[in-house]
Amino acid sequence: MVQPEQGESSSAARNGSKASANGSATNFELPWVEKYRPVYLDDVVGNTETIARLKIIAKDGNMPHMIISGMPGIGKTTSILCLARQMLGGAAYKEAVLELNASDERGIDVVRNRIKAFAQKKVTLPPGRHKLVILDEADSMTAGAQQALRRTMEIYSATTRFAFACNQSNKIIEALQSRCAILRYARLTDAQLVRRLRHICEAERVDVTDDGMAALVFSAEGDMRQAVNNLQSTAAGFGIVNGDNVFKVVDSPHPVKVQAMVRACYEGKVEVALETLQELWDLGYSSHDIISTMFRVTKSMDSLSEHSKLEFIREIGFTHMRILEGVQTLLQLSGCVARLCKINMKPDAFVLPK
Ligand SMILES: Nc1ncnc2c1ncn2[C@@H]1O[C@H](COP(=O)(O)OP(=O)(O)OP(=O)(O)O)[C@@H](O)[C@H]1O
Ligand SMILES: [Mg+2]
Repeated sequence: MVQPEQGESSSAARNGSKASANGSATNFELPWVEKYRPVYLDDVVGNTETIARLKIIAKDGNMPHMIISGMPGIGKTTSILCLARQMLGGAAYKEAVLELNASDERGIDVVRNRIKAFAQKKVTLPPGRHKLVILDEADSMTAGAQQALRRTMEIYSATTRFAFACNQSNKIIEALQSRCAILRYARLTDAQLVRRLRHICEAERVDVTDDGMAALVFSAEGDMRQAVNNLQSTAAGFGIVNGDNVFKVVDSPHPVKVQAMVRACYEGKVEVALETLQELWDLGYSSHDIISTMFRVTKSMDSLSEHSKLEFIREIGFTHMRILEGVQTLLQLSGCVARLCKINMKPDAFVLPK
């Protein structure tokens, strides 16, 4: 096992050694997202200000009720678990934490019985520490169950605090939102993803090329879980992680190809652009995959003039909308490509000869 790099502390090593203690077969099978799930808040990357606040809470205790919201795979569950572990310590953790997620029954009965019973339970904790109820994936709780929590949260707040994690905070009823501090997690930046992925590559001795890393980051769109999963799948399937292999694994259109198509549109070469589109279509990509890759590629293409870029994004946006409305044909995409070509053509080209 390679020593993890400085600053990344030893969570991975610890998880890893736990895995190898169970025998090498388990070590092999353990998904890297779990093997490298941060154990301490220090290891959670991104959202630095929010994590800094959580670290202070972990040190001083007196945690407020809180809601952490944000898109999937960016460390919400992880940071709540780290916080609980650091705040309460290993020994009290078992006694003083009740964790319920969407896989558990969380209807109104559970709120009335299990959560209430836990809130009433006596646990001896150091001063400033409270029992913790973690309600993960709270947006899938029914409104009724959330309503039932309102008074419970208030009555037992001297001894029990609540932490909710959810993807959409608007699925949490207003009354609970007003009782909680709301922390919003943003997508992770490319640099943050790269740093963590490099750390995992080093620990797992994976060969990764620069374009492989770029491909992982491009396809993950700020979702660390997806990036790590794609890294593992590519490493397991192909050995070497390069751009082509990553795009084979994630099965999305290769941005280089899409970029060539957008470039052809920019230069007004409609035949070339349509040919490339046809090739992508023949590879079996859905119109949704193609249009969303077109959007992301165009957004980050420096060689387009500012004006063209804005017009392109507008056109792609409208086509995306039509595709989402259900018109998912090649004709729809071809129309989009044709309109993109037209943007930079001179109006004289469309005048019919007299
Ligand atoms: N900020 C991060 N730093 C380090 N690793 C992360 C981070 N975010 C996610 N991961 C990795 O992704 C995995 C999943 O993260 P986590 O369970 O916290 O996601 P989540 O935000 O709760 O997503 P969901 O909304 O789907 O529940 C972790 O096991 C970890 O390996
Ligand atoms: Mg989660």
